[in-house]
Amino acid sequence: MNNNIRKIIRKKNKSKIVCLTAYSKNIAEIIDKHVDIVLVGDSLGSVLYNYNTTRKVNLKMMIEHAKSVRMGVKKSLLVVDLPYNTYRNKSEALRNSKLVMKQTKCDAVKIEGGLVVKDIVQHLVKNKVPVLGHIGITPQTVKGKFKSKGKTENEKNKLLKDAQVLEKSGVFGIVLECIYTDIAKRITNSVKIPTIGIGASVHCDGQVLVSDDVFGLTDAKIKFVKKYANIKKAINSAASKFKQEVKSKKYPTKKYSY
Ligand code: KIV
Repeated sequence: MNNNIRKIIRKKNKSKIVCLTAYSKNIAEIIDKHVDIVLVGDSLGSVLYNYNTTRKVNLKMMIEHAKSVRMGVKKSLLVVDLPYNTYRNKSEALRNSKLVMKQTKCDAVKIEGGLVVKDIVQHLVKNKVPVLGHIGITPQTVKGKFKSKGKTENEKNKLLKDAQVLEKSGVFGIVLECIYTDIAKRITNSVKIPTIGIGASVHCDGQVLVSDDVFGLTDAKIKFVKKYANIKKAINSAASKFKQEVKSKKYPTKKYSY
């Protein structure tokens, strides 16, 4: 386990963990100064490629985007999602994790699932691959509409068990996606590793959001998403100004010419 991961674990009950996604160097470079974890999420499938499911994202895409992100990340922990169908069994998971780590120089991988990935997590951790867990809504296995989890007693018990099994298996943290406040709080209090919430209330040890949503590059209308900037508007206005100046020959002036 590297020092950055130890630092993340030590934050539990002391200071909130901040995580944002990045898919390229330029965004990574900016957010690196502000976050503890940069996540190359397979959400890039929907955000960048307009896929209707993250299942269409493959390992090559994750590696290429993570290589770009790596160039911008100097101090944060860099975590890369293993995409769908790349960790179906222990040997496949280890082979692909090692490939991702070697090619992207990331610090850890994230995989989705609780009890069902117990053996895989144990195998990865035993072989020196740090793993971030992910339970609640797990987009790689969702069929149909996304629906928040943990409303019924059955669902609450399953989530709690999943979190406890993941902790025992050796993950250094768990992403809780779209789960009800009471069970997010219960899970956070019942494990010694940090929980990082996305739509999982203030009770988690940290929060993660998709950068493109946070910066207003997407039109996401999701309950838990808060837009902190309107980059789309800024780009619109810059593109329009550029167009006007090109048409009116105001650009390029001598200053911009050889
Ligand atoms: O793919 C992703 O970006 C994620 C986060 C939303 C947690 O898994």
